[in-house]
Amino acid sequence: MEILECEDADVAAISRLYYETVHSVNIHDYSLEQIAAWAPKIYSDAFWKKRFKNYRVFVVKEKGRVIGFAEFEHTGQIDCFYVHHLWQRQGVGSKLLARIEHEALSGGIKRLFADVCITAQPFFKRKGFGVTKEFERVYRGCLFKLFLMEKTLLCARSRTVFGV
Ligand SMILES: CC(C)(COP(=O)(O)OP(=O)(O)OC[C@H]1O[C@@H](n2cnc3c(N)ncnc32)[C@H](O)[C@@H]1OP(=O)(O)O)[C@@H](O)C(=O)NCCC(=O)NCCS
Repeated sequence: MEILECEDADVAAISRLYYETVHSVNIHDYSLEQIAAWAPKIYSDAFWKKRFKNYRVFVVKEKGRVIGFAEFEHTGQIDCFYVHHLWQRQGVGSKLLARIEHEALSGGIKRLFADVCITAQPFFKRKGFGVTKEFERVYRGCLFKLFLMEKTLLCARSRTVFGV
């Protein structure tokens, strides 16, 4: 497993992964109507390329195949964060988040936050994020319950202060 910055050649696989993960993983926590609103089709490469202009995008690859991706903004916001449906609970999400935390600390970002869905809440909780707000958002006519989750990052120096 390796983690890399997204390249144009990865976009088609990301688009398929997003659609398949929503339709086979998130479907356990949402209605068919919500899933159809969330991922109505496999979006075009152009859609994702335009969207990715606003983010740093990381991909996890196994033998050259994309098995996870995440969008990270300089504000500390994590947006899309998806693991391939056949690679759930195998450490892919952990790898993505570790890279984001590393990049955040390198860039002086001390707070990470995300609007997290029901499916992903246990993962972010396990990784030290706390829920600071529960809210609802209407997306394509469907109501979604979301959690604003946040984590304050400790820089390496403050973690080891008692050890030196
Ligand atoms: C949320 C998601 C990204 C997590 O990725 P992942 O690769 O499966 O996560 P990891 O294997 O790194 O999990 C690390 C730890 O988080 C916790 N965790 C992850 N998923 C969990 C779940 N569904 N329930 C409970 N704990 C969970 C566990 O403690 C896990 O460690 P363990 O497997 O040793 O017990 C993945 O489930 C996913 O793609 N979900 C669908 C897409 C989604 O909802 N994205 C977020 C949109 S807001």
